[in-house]
Amino acid sequence: MQKNFVLITGSSSGLGAGIARSLSEEGRNVALHYNRGEKRIKEIDDFCRKRDVETILLRSDLSSTAGLDSLRDQVEEGGIKLGGLVNNAGIAVSGDVRNITDEDWGMVLSLNLTAPVLLTKRLLKFFTDSSSILNMSSASGLRASREISIAYQSSKAALIHATKSMALSLAPKTRVNAIAPSFVETHMTGNILSNSGFREVIVRMTPMGRMETIEDVTNMASFLLSEKSSFITGQTFLIDGGITL
Ligand SMILES: NC(=O)c1ccc[n+]([C@@H]2O[C@H](COP(=O)([O-])OP(=O)(O)OC[C@H]3O[C@@H](n4cnc5c(N)ncnc54)[C@H](OP(=O)(O)O)[C@@H]3O)[C@@H](O)[C@H]2O)c1
Repeated sequence: MQKNFVLITGSSSGLGAGIARSLSEEGRNVALHYNRGEKRIKEIDDFCRKRDVETILLRSDLSSTAGLDSLRDQVEEGGIKLGGLVNNAGIAVSGDVRNITDEDWGMVLSLNLTAPVLLTKRLLKFFTDSSSILNMSSASGLRASREISIAYQSSKAALIHATKSMALSLAPKTRVNAIAPSFVETHMTGNILSNSGFREVIVRMTPMGRMETIEDVTNMASFLLSEKSSFITGQTFLIDGGITL
């Protein structure tokens, strides 16, 4: 019998690694996708295996059609069924409408928006009859901001709408939701947070009075990937301690 897995893209780092760890602690088998983080993915893999779950490592560059095809082929060759998919891999660049380069615009849109949609399309035949997809959006997909690049904000806003469209097309077999964290310390945000005073400004602006943690995100991800959320689809959940109120 084929084993049931949750595939997490970009699970070699940050939020994806956190989601993989917490799912393994709940006893779920995880398909760990990575691109360049070979050393880091081995540490995540070790952690998950110690929780007595099955893991499979999948490597591909999701910014290209060949990479999307390769990931589909690896899932097929691994003989796995998907109870869940987390479209988490993403990148951020800087630049507003006056100075964003064509290359940066294309790169961010292809990884943050095109990959979640076209990877899902490629994986449809592997989903179980009661499966859940989680798209990683961002608070900056809901509210425009001068500090975040136009490409990033646009990709995350479009992903929220794509989530609704996917939910309509894939119900009732597969639910599709999105989460929108605000500011969590990861590789992606490390540089900004190391600027003196920035962290304090965020905490001061956040009604809950602290930084967002990876656990804040994984708690919601676990719920949306579980049967506890079986009547929820097409929604985006903001996880921001009230900062956008
Ligand atoms: N951190 C935040 O505050 C925050 C807030 C809102 C939303 N998000 C979203 O959360 C997701 C994860 O971000 P993070 O903060 O955890 O960042 P991160 O630590 O930089 O992790 C990014 C992940 O994406 C993968 N990735 C990058 N380029 C790739 C490519 N071309 N092909 C395949 N995989 C690729 C990386 O894999 P390798 O390292 O193996 O190459 C890595 O696992 C992103 O979608 C981000 O937009 C983050």
